[in-house]
Amino acid sequence: MAYFEQEIDVMIKEAELQAKVRELGAQITRDYAGRELTLVGVLKGSIFFLTDLARAIDLPLRIELMGVSSYLEGNETTGEVRITHDVTGPMGGRDLLLVEDIVDTGLTMQFLLDNLKARQPASLKVCVLLEKPARTKCKVTIDYRGFVIEDRFVVGYGLDFAEKYRNVPFVGGMRS
Ligand code: IMP
Ligand code: MG
Repeated sequence: MAYFEQEIDVMIKEAELQAKVRELGAQITRDYAGRELTLVGVLKGSIFFLTDLARAIDLPLRIELMGVSSYLEGNETTGEVRITHDVTGPMGGRDLLLVEDIVDTGLTMQFLLDNLKARQPASLKVCVLLEKPARTKCKVTIDYRGFVIEDRFVVGYGLDFAEKYRNVPFVGGMRS
């Protein structure tokens, strides 16, 4: 038995994640047909989703990464976000798809969207694996959504608790 099975309740199985990623990839492929796309992944939580999604998209593709760190008040972001890693290529005139693991309050996503918009891309859309609508403070338009989940702290498939559990192959809730 895997070490984490005592600590985490499975919420979204590995096969469900893979099926959803293929579905999102096919939809993105249709929507951007004839264009080139740049996926902008958000470190570190989105990396597993990002690499699976990239392989499910049948288009000429670039991958960029942004790292952000949010200041916390208790267990919630304040909305003040610091860039810890910036993209390396030009964003101006490109079709950008921001790829994030989860939208919780939405404050991090809003910051990233404002930041990328200022670089004048040709287009800017959002793809998130998980949305927790119960906690939304800042409504951002999500163009591609994997799953809507209940208000529970989740880990796995890139998401962490104190940097642990990112390599858990499913999405699950921490048992308290
Ligand atoms: P937001 O700014 O409140 O939307 O929070 C965004 C960031 O907080 C996400 O990119 C995640 O890194 C982290 N986060 C929010 N909820 C969870 C969770 O349930 N598990 C793990 N990380 C989370
Ligand atoms: Mg994140």
